[in-house]
Amino acid sequence: MLGTAPQDSVVKDGGVEDGVGLTALLVAAARAVETYRPDALARDAYAEHFVRAARASAGWPVHPRDVPDADGDPLWGRLGRYFGLRTRVLDDFLLGRARAGIRQTVLLGAGLDTRAYRLDWPAGHTVYEVDQPHVLAFKHDVLDGLRAVPRAHRVALAADFRDDWPDELMAAGFDPSLPTAWLAEGLLLYLPAVAERALVDTVHWLSAPTSTLAYEVKIGLEPEAVRDSPVYTAARERIGVDLLALFDGDPRPDSAADLTAYGWSVTVRTPFDFTRRHGRGPRRERRDALAANRWVFAAR
Ligand SMILES: C[S@@+](CC[C@H](N)C(=O)[O-])C[C@H]1O[C@@H](n2cnc3c(N)ncnc32)[C@H](O)[C@@H]1O
Repeated sequence: MLGTAPQDSVVKDGGVEDGVGLTALLVAAARAVETYRPDALARDAYAEHFVRAARASAGWPVHPRDVPDADGDPLWGRLGRYFGLRTRVLDDFLLGRARAGIRQTVLLGAGLDTRAYRLDWPAGHTVYEVDQPHVLAFKHDVLDGLRAVPRAHRVALAADFRDDWPDELMAAGFDPSLPTAWLAEGLLLYLPAVAERALVDTVHWLSAPTSTLAYEVKIGLEPEAVRDSPVYTAARERIGVDLLALFDGDPRPDSAADLTAYGWSVTVRTPFDFTRRHGRGPRRERRDALAANRWVFAAR
């Protein structure tokens, strides 16, 4: 773990603590707890510093000892384990692509993802991080305070996926003639359907052959019984994160079908497939808020 103590609050009004920005802190807290589990699937030494630096999350757990009910806690246990598993699976995916020769990775909705700092990237790799300006500003404040050094060439880009972001990405140095590994982790759920379709179209048009895209979606809107499930209730009542209000309410597009129609090969997995593979992670349950989640891996 990093030797420096978590910083005092550096958040600014209207910063990462607002709206969907808060979900980045939720995932960071889950990664902080995961980091200290003896059987951690992923370790992120920076995560606890983000959590402690924001007023809204300063009292959230950052260690398993802060979660007395352990895996029985619907929020920091089961959902936390989900984020730990997701982090590991997508770490493996991105590193695998980089080691196979892809030299640019684009993290769409990067939030407080520290892969540029954590992972052992091959020499010459560039990681682009795209997110809202205030989320990136908060991230930079915390990482600068820790004197964190990226392990790849890192380019942060403040943009909104509902606006025109591809030109800004190219202006930042992105090269569409090179194969790219794209990641949209925990992003598409929050975007209007039209923005998800536009994002998938953009990724397709900016992707040289052998590029890959991994993303998370929920298939369809969840039934009422699931919307009442302990995960959503705990997030809303205990930490003030109303995920159901933040998820976009549009009927979801079928991006896997769209990519297939563009000629990509697409594999759709449930998180439970990876729980089996790794021997730990969330398992199915009744009224399951994770039942509709899919992790999609596409290759051009
Ligand atoms: C749940 S967080 C996930 C962050 C990161 N991918 C991770 O897994 O730790 C969702 C992120 O998407 C970003 N986001 C949501 N809608 C966005 C938009 N329209 N434009 C840019 N970023 C957006 C949020 O700011 C937030 O950082």
